[in-house]
Amino acid sequence: MPMEIEQLPSVGLSKVATSDTHGEDSPYFAGWKAYDEDPYDETSNSSGVIQMGLAENQVSFDLLEKYLEQHPEASSWGKGAPGFRENALFQDYHGLKSFRQAMASFMEQIRGGRAKFDPDRVVLTAGATAANELLTFILADPGDALLVPTPYYPGFDRDLRWRTGVKIVPIHCDSSNNFQITPQAMEAAYKEAEARKMKVRGVLITNPSNPLGATIQRSVLEEILDFVTRKNIHLVSDEIYSGSAFLSSEFVSIAEILEAREYKNSERVHIVYSLSKDLGLPGFRVGTIYSYNNKVVTTARRMSSFTLISSQTQHLLASMLSNKKFTENYIKTNRERLRKRYEMIIEGLESAGIECLKGNAGLFCWMNLSPLLEKPTREGELALWDSILHQVKLNISPGSSCHCSEPGWFRVCFANMSEQTLEVALKRIHNFMQAQQRERKRNM
Ligand SMILES: Cc1ncc(COP(=O)(O)O)c(C=O)c1O
Repeated sequence: MPMEIEQLPSVGLSKVATSDTHGEDSPYFAGWKAYDEDPYDETSNSSGVIQMGLAENQVSFDLLEKYLEQHPEASSWGKGAPGFRENALFQDYHGLKSFRQAMASFMEQIRGGRAKFDPDRVVLTAGATAANELLTFILADPGDALLVPTPYYPGFDRDLRWRTGVKIVPIHCDSSNNFQITPQAMEAAYKEAEARKMKVRGVLITNPSNPLGATIQRSVLEEILDFVTRKNIHLVSDEIYSGSAFLSSEFVSIAEILEAREYKNSERVHIVYSLSKDLGLPGFRVGTIYSYNNKVVTTARRMSSFTLISSQTQHLLASMLSNKKFTENYIKTNRERLRKRYEMIIEGLESAGIECLKGNAGLFCWMNLSPLLEKPTREGELALWDSILHQVKLNISPGSSCHCSEPGWFRVCFANMSEQTLEVALKRIHNFMQAQQRERKRNM
C-alpha cells in the first residue's frame, strides 16, 4: 500500500478512471488474490492455494535459458560502445527491422509455412493487451460494438472496453455443438447490437480459443469471414496461442484462408499475436498487430508510440528468433511438452470422473463440473468455485467470468507449474470428487 495520506472525496477524476468497465471485479481476479494471500509451495506451504487460473507457459524455460547461455551476444552489447549507444537512443516506432523480420518469420514457422507474413505489415506493441486495445481504438468509436464469441478471455472486458468506450456484444456458444461459432449465433448477436442501437464494427475471435483450448475449424473460419464480408465489418483474429496448438496440423490461421482466397476482402482482417504464451515471456511485453489494411498499419504504428517495446528486448529477441535452428527445436519441443501436460491433466480428471471439452491447443482445459452444481445457475457455479478455492485450495476460473452462458464450466491451467504440483492438484480434485460422491450417497 502507498504511504497513508488522507483522501478527501472532493477532487474528481475522469469518467474513464471512475468507470467499472476495467472488469477487475470478476471472480477471475478475486481468485488470484486468494492465491497471493496463501500461495502453495511444495516445501514451505504444502496446503496453500495452487494457482490454476493463470495461463502462463513455464514448460520450456530451460530451452530459452540454454539459448541465452550459448549466445551471450543476444543479451549484451559486446565490446565497443556503438551497439549500446545506438540501442539506447533507438525509439523509432517502426521497431528494429531485424526484429520485425524475425517476428514475421517466426509467425510463418508456427503456421508450418502455410502462410506468409510481410515484415512491413508487422506493427509492434507492448503485448497482445495493447494490440487489442489499439485495434479497437482504430476500428470503432465509443458506443460502437464488437461481437465476441463466448466464452472469452476475461481480460477482453478491460482491453476492448475500458478506455475505448466500445461495447462487447456476446456471440453465445454452448456445449450442444462443442462451443462452435455458428452463423445463426453471429446473426443473433448482430441483431441484438442493432436492437440496442449500436453500430457493429467487427467480430473478434481467439484462435486457438481461450478458454476452450481448442482451435477453430477451417469451415467455421470460412463462415466467419463470409459473415464479416456480408456485413462489411472487420475481423480481428487473436492468435496468441497459435504456437501452443500442440496438434499443430489442426490449427488453421485466418492468414491461410486469406491466402487461399488470394487476399480478396483481406483489408478487413487483422491478426493479433504476442510472445507471452508461446515463448512464455509475458513480462517482456512483446506483441504485434498484423493487418492487411494499409491505413490500419500506418495508424496502428503511429498509435504504438504509447506502447513501444524496449529496444533492448527487441535486440535480444531479434537474435533469438532469427536463429532457425533454435526456433524449429523450440516450437517442436514446446508443443510436445504441452501435449504431454494436456494428456496428463485430462487423464487425471477423467479418472476423477470429470469430463473436459476435447482440446488441441493452449495452456488450459475446459472442464465440465455442471453435474456438481446444486443449482444450474451462475450463483450455483460461483458457490462451487468458492468451495474449490477455499476448501480444495485450487484457483480455477469459473466459466461465468468468461461470460459463458452455460453454468458449470471451468478453465483449468496446467502449464504454469511443475509436473509434481500438477499431480498434487489432481490428487486434491480426486479427493474432492470422492467426497462429493460420498455426500451424495449419504443424501440419497
Ligand atoms: C486471448 C488473449 N489475448 C490477449 C492476452 C494478453 O496477452 P499479453 O500478455 O500479450 O498482453 C491474453 C492473456 O492471457 C489472452 O489469453
